[in-house]
Amino acid sequence: MAPPPNIHERTYIMAKPDGVDRGLIGEIITRFEKRGFKLIAAKLALPTKQHLEDHYGDLKDKPFFPGLITYMQSGPVFCMVFEGLDAVKTGRAMLGATNPLTSQPGTIRGDYALAVGRNICHGSDSVENAEKEIKLWFPEGTLQYQLSQASMIYE
Ligand code: TYD
Repeated sequence: MAPPPNIHERTYIMAKPDGVDRGLIGEIITRFEKRGFKLIAAKLALPTKQHLEDHYGDLKDKPFFPGLITYMQSGPVFCMVFEGLDAVKTGRAMLGATNPLTSQPGTIRGDYALAVGRNICHGSDSVENAEKEIKLWFPEGTLQYQLSQASMIYE
């Protein structure tokens, strides 16, 4: 028998400084919520250079790496964890291709960006990386973000 679908898969989505500065945080959240994903945790952050080098460790030998780190430190980022069926793969599809010039219209990058170095948002590219990134950006964990519904109804 096939295993049951994992409706609790999580992905790490981050509005980059250009996404925050252009007022697109709400748009990104709206798109994920309307698709059916649940927002598990969210916060603004000003990451250190070291933190960003850890996040983008796989890219450290790329020629664009120094520029990427400088840009990622140019303003606050907005960190989010979304949960739902196939959150990682569907999240990537919703973001669109890395280079906005080839991102399909209807995707976040395809609708709002033109340059690869200013492509609005990040999304985990595998379940394994999502787990690593959620730990890196939310070292405090995500439990404290989950209010019990009862506390919103009863005093
Ligand atoms: P990458 O992990 O390849 O793409 P993605 O964000 O879609 O997972 O690259 C990370 C970021 O690096 C990318 O979002 C934008 C930046 N970047 C450049 O600035 N120039 C480039 O040529 C590439 C490939 C990426």
